[in-house]
Amino acid sequence: MRMVDLIGRKRDGLEHSPEEIDFIVEGIVNQTIPDYQLAAWCMAVYFQGMTPREARDLAVKMAACGEQVDLSSIPGIKIDKHSTGGVGDKTSLVVAPLVAAAGIPVCKMSGRGLGHTGGTIDKLESIPGFRTELALPELFAQVKTVGIGLVGQTGNLVPADKQLYALRDVTGTVASIPLIATSIMSKKLAGGADGFVLDVKVGNGAFLKTKEEAEKLGELMVAIGKNAGRKTVAVLSAMDQPLGQAIGNALEVKEAIATLRGEGPPDLEELSLVLGAQMLVLAGQETDAVQAQVKLKALINGGEGLRVFRRWVEAQGGDARVVDDPDLLPTAPVVVKVKSPARGYLTAWETEALGLTSMRLGAGRARKGDPIDHGVGLVIEKKIGDWVEAGEDIAKVYANSEAEAAAAVAEVLTEVKIGTVRPPVSPLVIGYII
Ligand code: URA
Repeated sequence: MRMVDLIGRKRDGLEHSPEEIDFIVEGIVNQTIPDYQLAAWCMAVYFQGMTPREARDLAVKMAACGEQVDLSSIPGIKIDKHSTGGVGDKTSLVVAPLVAAAGIPVCKMSGRGLGHTGGTIDKLESIPGFRTELALPELFAQVKTVGIGLVGQTGNLVPADKQLYALRDVTGTVASIPLIATSIMSKKLAGGADGFVLDVKVGNGAFLKTKEEAEKLGELMVAIGKNAGRKTVAVLSAMDQPLGQAIGNALEVKEAIATLRGEGPPDLEELSLVLGAQMLVLAGQETDAVQAQVKLKALINGGEGLRVFRRWVEAQGGDARVVDDPDLLPTAPVVVKVKSPARGYLTAWETEALGLTSMRLGAGRARKGDPIDHGVGLVIEKKIGDWVEAGEDIAKVYANSEAEAAAAVAEVLTEVKIGTVRPPVSPLVIGYII
């Protein structure tokens, strides 16, 4: 087989055979296919797409060419949750302890933030002492005793994705739906869970900006998961403004703790209950998602979710006093209010730009491996549809210096739209792919 012929087949819109997919993935892992050929193939996939069968074969083969986590020593059905990435999305910090409090073991691998989106591992590391690099036997032992554990992805998980993603990043092919779906699902499959609840974000803060594109991604990911023998559902959720109010690591942990106390922003609580309910249904604990949401809400009201969060932080070496005193989390030295430039309805937030402002304050990374500052970020105080008076607070900037705060305030003022007509309030949960 020659890579040049496979590039030609994909360019002409033909379907790769399973053997061809194997050849490509082995060529990536063994580094026998040069980058220029892989880049050309990625572009051919970008324009011609992939059939669900090809995408399933690609994801399964990528998962097989690397470490595969075996969760079978942990009793029970293990359900993983994944978000395609957004701004202010801290649902994992709420959902994981709630689902564990409901009796479903949570054994999860998460990523770090990149670009405008945050990552669960960075958020957890804002808790002083929290260790995210447990060896797998230690992680499994913790899940068996505490019911929950969460670590960063091990270095050997899906090496093909690391190489392909780096190439996509510099060849304009990140936004290919089959390449996103296979990149995400290969890592999920290798993570070893029995089922997946996928939160596919739609809107100006998400990878995919339209409902149609997000639906296609969700459908393909669900097809890959099911064809690979795992229970899989996707929830399409709005990312046309930050989820909740906080953007930035310690700020988001504080908001997650407030949500577990029943004092969080309504949108964050709603999405956490929706995603957690799907996890309970996939795990076979509930048959009805509405009933499952009632159960999870009761675990917030009764404080069980917060108790599991505390035990989880302790088990991973973190300072669990942050649960009662979130002010022990890192905080930025300079806090500046952003005032509304006009009177009217808040009609839009430029969500991706807000994520980038938070990143530039130090909460995220432009390049893999960049250091981050856990205390900085933004708190959005008004949401789309809210009425604001001129000069009223619409956001707060948490920065390391007056100069950085001033730059961020100026940016936030370009990232908000105020108008005279009340915008329609769109639903947070847009749909399900089951
Ligand atoms: N997240 C991933 O893991 N891969 C992609 O391609 C996009 C988002």
